[in-house]
Amino acid sequence: GPATALVVAAGSGVRLGAVRAGSPVPKALVEVGGRPLVAHAVAGLLDAGVTDVVVAVPAEHRDAFAAVLPAEVALVPGGATRTGSVRNALARCADGAGPVLVHDAARPFTPAAVVARVLAALAAGARAVVPVLPVVDTTVEVDGDRVVAEVARAALRRVQTPQGFDRATLVAAYAAVTDQQVFTDDASVVRALGVPVHTVPGDELAAKITVPHDLVLAERHAVAR
Ligand code: C5P
Repeated sequence: GPATALVVAAGSGVRLGAVRAGSPVPKALVEVGGRPLVAHAVAGLLDAGVTDVVVAVPAEHRDAFAAVLPAEVALVPGGATRTGSVRNALARCADGAGPVLVHDAARPFTPAAVVARVLAALAAGARAVVPVLPVVDTTVEVDGDRVVAEVARAALRRVQTPQGFDRATLVAAYAAVTDQQVFTDDASVVRALGVPVHTVPGDELAAKITVPHDLVLAERHAVAR
């Protein structure tokens, strides 16, 4: 059936630090394997069977995004926060049909199998689904530079995207929060409404490109594919 994907691509990429001709390059336009991150991410979703894609882009770079994306993809201006960017993309498709996936443009090599697991959990009745991986490092809480507590690693998970939602649930959740509240993903917006969030296995290949080292790994993967 139909499924919509919202791809958030409006981040500045300050931590990645890409520069072209003296100007900062938005992270989603940084190329891996000769193709921008956002183009990889959108192609992956379409290959996995998503039928409609809306991408939130930095307003001042709209033409550059349109030039590297398929014509059927809708572009909306991003917000000041990730939450604002999702809100703008959701407004464009609130009256559509089928589930909604929300995906980071910065996860270019997300396997189709991860998308399929998220969609399958939604089809089985979950209203919210996130792909997760275990935490491999010892993880602690600090106060300044001092460790104040160890956190029980076995119960922790790293949360990836695409995250999947029943469409009405996601629309209602975004109507109930403001962009000033701090949310780093969409499942936390939905959980703020009391909706249970289910997990499915994620994949290391769905890792988010954030710092320059991530780009080195992604480039190696692009070459090896
Ligand atoms: O900052 P972070 O790495 O968590 O961003 C995750 C995703 O959210 C990225 O794909 C980024 O482009 C997007 N984003 C956005 N609008 C913002 C901030 C981040 O679309 N204002």
